[in-house]
Amino acid sequence: MTLLTIKKLPAEVLRHVAQPVTSVDKRVAKFMENLAETMYKGNGIGLAANQVGVLERVIVVDISDERDGRNTLLMANPEILGSDPDEIFIYNEGCLSIPGHYADVKRPKRLRMTYLDQHGKKQELEAEDLLSQCIQHEIDHLNGVLFIDHLSKLKRDMILRKIEKEKREEEGGHIL
Ligand code: NI
Repeated sequence: MTLLTIKKLPAEVLRHVAQPVTSVDKRVAKFMENLAETMYKGNGIGLAANQVGVLERVIVVDISDERDGRNTLLMANPEILGSDPDEIFIYNEGCLSIPGHYADVKRPKRLRMTYLDQHGKKQELEAEDLLSQCIQHEIDHLNGVLFIDHLSKLKRDMILRKIEKEKREEEGGHIL
């Protein structure tokens, strides 16, 4: 296993669109495992390839309490087939690429999807509540979208200003 480095805002790669994988070969399967390992290490419940600087449509998710690797969803080319926009779920989301910032995000409560598993086999999945929320958050990443994009401009700008300030302080700059 190899731990990967998580990119944080304002890293450009977080705003790029990831491309589908042509097949889940050994390299992609290994990448899925490394991505999962990195997610567990960071105490996240999901992680997308963009977040480690790789522009391939791969995400990993584990919302279980055990988090022992037995319930990890390793997904390539995840695709949402349908969701009901009238039934909403709200969750206080965070993101390993935007550490320390959280906000309530509204998303469809249920979804149906397909993806390729670690063996390249096409799977269908129905998800609701937190699992649905997390999958939507990760697929957003593959499209260059972050949870803060779902907030009002006022709230988003507040978070972006704080990140900018934190970055300047980290770099030892002075704020005048
Ligand atoms: Ni995230």
